[in-house]
Amino acid sequence: MTQRIFLCADIEIPPNSPHRICPAKRGSAYLLYKVDGALFMTDELCTHAQVSLLTGELHGHQIQCPLHGGAFDIRTGMATEFPCKQPIRTHRVEVADGAVFGFFE
Ligand code: FES
Repeated sequence: MTQRIFLCADIEIPPNSPHRICPAKRGSAYLLYKVDGALFMTDELCTHAQVSLLTGELHGHQIQCPLHGGAFDIRTGMATEFPCKQPIRTHRVEVADGAVFGFFE
């Protein structure tokens, strides 16, 4: 069953930089990204060695891991740079009246 959960206000998310959120109902952290006015969300941890991508650099729609330089496409979760091979999970995001909601399976 899909859960729709309030995450934060839209204005809290800076453009072109990961924004960490930890919804109380989930018990895990996620990263929100605002690129060209569109929002995206992924799990927080790199699938290569489980480090946070929060301090990674965002190049367009690619988030680069700060530890070994692997990368993911935040739109699809696909790994785009070695040594990452496993995709990262992505989650649908919606904005309603300035509030950001995430959808979780
Ligand atoms: S931990 Fe992210 S690329 Fe190695």
